[in-house]
Amino acid sequence: MSNALPPAWQAALAKRKQHFTIDSPTTLRLLHDEDPQVRCDRFGTLCWFYWYGSALPTSVDLAHMEDFSAAAGSSYWLARLMRDRGQDPQAISSWGSTQIEQWTAHEDDLEYIFRSDHGLSPGLFLDQRQNRLWVRTQAKSRRVLNLFSYTGGFSLNAALGQAQEVVSVDTSRPTLNWSEANFELNGLNKGNCEFWKAEARNFLRGCNKRDRTFDLVICDPPSFSRSRDGAFKLERDLEEVLQGTDRILAPRGQILLSTNFEKWNAEEFTRRAQSALPGYIKVELPQPDPDFATDGEPQLKALVLAKP
Ligand SMILES: C[S@@+](CC[C@H](N)C(=O)[O-])C[C@H]1O[C@@H](n2cnc3c(N)ncnc32)[C@H](O)[C@@H]1O
Repeated sequence: MSNALPPAWQAALAKRKQHFTIDSPTTLRLLHDEDPQVRCDRFGTLCWFYWYGSALPTSVDLAHMEDFSAAAGSSYWLARLMRDRGQDPQAISSWGSTQIEQWTAHEDDLEYIFRSDHGLSPGLFLDQRQNRLWVRTQAKSRRVLNLFSYTGGFSLNAALGQAQEVVSVDTSRPTLNWSEANFELNGLNKGNCEFWKAEARNFLRGCNKRDRTFDLVICDPPSFSRSRDGAFKLERDLEEVLQGTDRILAPRGQILLSTNFEKWNAEEFTRRAQSALPGYIKVELPQPDPDFATDGEPQLKALVLAKP
């Protein structure tokens, strides 16, 4: 047992307990803006710490993480260094209890597979929880396209919301397989779901050629990525993605667009989206849940634009 937990961490946990039931399989952000050095997400049995400090975590910091995880009812913990490792690729960038490589946890009534051996996230970005639920409420009888689908969180919600069809597109075969496994875990693949390994802009071009249209498109691109089809740079390529989406969106269709890109605030992001899609009407999205409350600019920028 280490020294007492930092007061900000104790207060953060107490605040979460006022708003949420924290039981073994739930997912929740436990530390958001409470400590500038670290964020923490609870994914059921494991607490995942994102370390942003300029120095490496000390043994006291690591002991706090262990105790904080136990206080949140999680048996395992893991910490990942989020800043650049500089010149030394061998430098330690991960700490934790006995590793578990794969486990499951819930968001609402959906179960997700999590993995500790696959990048800087275990498989779900919790800040999109309300937006996933929004997709679920909009999906009924609609044709839904999820570009940049990752592990399929939006797609699962569209399927559960009784979409007519759900198409997931990602350049990574392993994450598409992961999405399919999430569908199977929830008994959701009923033959109206497709999983395509493709570059988003190429996929949109292909749909346009085949006159394939959608009613709801989810577009949550990374700030930067590299694939066999070349580099994707949000600053450069957002406009092309949105114009390609416009071509395959049915009248009165909607685009849910989001980003964590740090160089743009919500106003700038909205301005760019609206200038790529003139005539589209902005639709309100629900507010983020209290575990993502912040006094500053929210990192996640999200908006919905509806085609006239
Ligand atoms: C920011 S995440 C998307 C998160 C996802 N929308 C979610 O809700 O969890 C980035 C994903 O986009 C994929 N990706 C990156 N560049 C891509 C591209 N040019 N076309 C299609 N997928 C891409 C990555 O493989 C990764 O799975």
